[in-house]
Amino acid sequence: WSTTAEKDGGVLSVGGVAVTDLVRQEGSPAYVLDEVDFRSRARAFKQAFDTYDVFYAGKAFLSTTTVRWLDEEGLHLDVCSGGELSVAQRAGFPMERVGYHGNNKTESELARALHLGVGRIIVDSFHEIERLERLTAAGGRTARVMIRVTAGVEAHTHEYIATAHEDQKFGFSITSGDAFEAARRVHDAAGLELLGLHSHIGSQIFDSSGFEVAARRVLALHARVSEEIGVDMPEMDLGGGFGIAYTTQDDPSDPAQLAGEMSKIVEHECKALGIAEPRLSIEPGRAIVGPSMCTVYTVGTVKEVALDGGQVRAYVSVDGGMSDNIRTALYDADYSATLASRRSDAPAVLSRVVGKHCEAGDIVVKDEFLPADVAPGDLLAVPGTGAYCRSMASNYNHVLRPAVIAVRDGKISVVLRRETEDDLLATDVGA
Ligand code: LLP
Repeated sequence: WSTTAEKDGGVLSVGGVAVTDLVRQEGSPAYVLDEVDFRSRARAFKQAFDTYDVFYAGKAFLSTTTVRWLDEEGLHLDVCSGGELSVAQRAGFPMERVGYHGNNKTESELARALHLGVGRIIVDSFHEIERLERLTAAGGRTARVMIRVTAGVEAHTHEYIATAHEDQKFGFSITSGDAFEAARRVHDAAGLELLGLHSHIGSQIFDSSGFEVAARRVLALHARVSEEIGVDMPEMDLGGGFGIAYTTQDDPSDPAQLAGEMSKIVEHECKALGIAEPRLSIEPGRAIVGPSMCTVYTVGTVKEVALDGGQVRAYVSVDGGMSDNIRTALYDADYSATLASRRSDAPAVLSRVVGKHCEAGDIVVKDEFLPADVAPGDLLAVPGTGAYCRSMASNYNHVLRPAVIAVRDGKISVVLRRETEDDLLATDVGA
């Protein structure tokens, strides 16, 4: 839960706003964004990593409002598509504090990034280096470049979100020599300025040993590039991926502790290698926005199903589902839910919170004990939905994507409005 969430007489309030009032005013389902919580997590990273640049990873959740908050809090911003870049641009975010990622940026996306003066472009393939050479030669601008490297680490997380083992699409392999070769080519290219190396090992990681191994390997390459190519790269980025608690069993990352551990490793390695410490940066997304949102749904139907062994499971259907939170279906993610609109003294029963989509895998919360009297019209709240829920939301079954509503000091403001059927039909040119 975000820091200002509390229950009063069974009614959940966030930022001083009762979710019952919020839904009456803004409809359901809704993502509720706790501004104070979001800002304080951004600030905690910024303060803990005070000698680093902290790039917020926009893929976790992006809107012009939150981008402005990040600017005010002094963070940098990581984007990975022309669309994400356009949000930063619309928000008036300083382009020199933007990092541009992606394994397949198009020529026009790169041209736009150069034109806007994006602070760093993180290159991910030889084709991209060639593209940038062409563009800078034609446009007379310099591209400030980092090289995404594959550190060869098996991060302990879901297979789809681990990114530093060899057999996946991101980065230049250190082991094969590609990463060194990429550094050489960038250094040799007239319009490209080599800023440093970049490593991101995966997401929702709790064990810091993966970061340690990656930092060691990337620093070793950094030293080799300095020595053999004769270029002193001023920067290095160690990526994001810091895990958050989704259920009470998880152990959340503590920015101060992480900062301490990472700085110690880097200091120690640089001493051992006899090199100057590059200016470091990190890219947390989930750890900033994840806990600061919850999703509020309205219950539509409840059905009891007998399980083998005589147990019963209540299927509680809500007015959203896999279109606003795909993470349970895609990564087998664990969430929790609570009755948010009233108090109940009914006994807790094994329940599954499911959506309104046409498939059985449309599950929001796999297992939860909810009061036996949960009924149509009740509100349920699911915490920890700030990261990769709205940003991965879809219109499956032509369901409308919910609004994102910021709350603070008892006040509501719309960050992203609820979609309408006209929005959906706007791209249907036959209509
Ligand atoms: N930097 C780079 C280069 C990344 O690729 C990512 C995430 C991040 C930073 C931020 O990672 P974070 O701190 O948010 O873990 N959709 C998946 C997560 C995919 C992450 C992709 N890259 C999920 O819902 O778990």
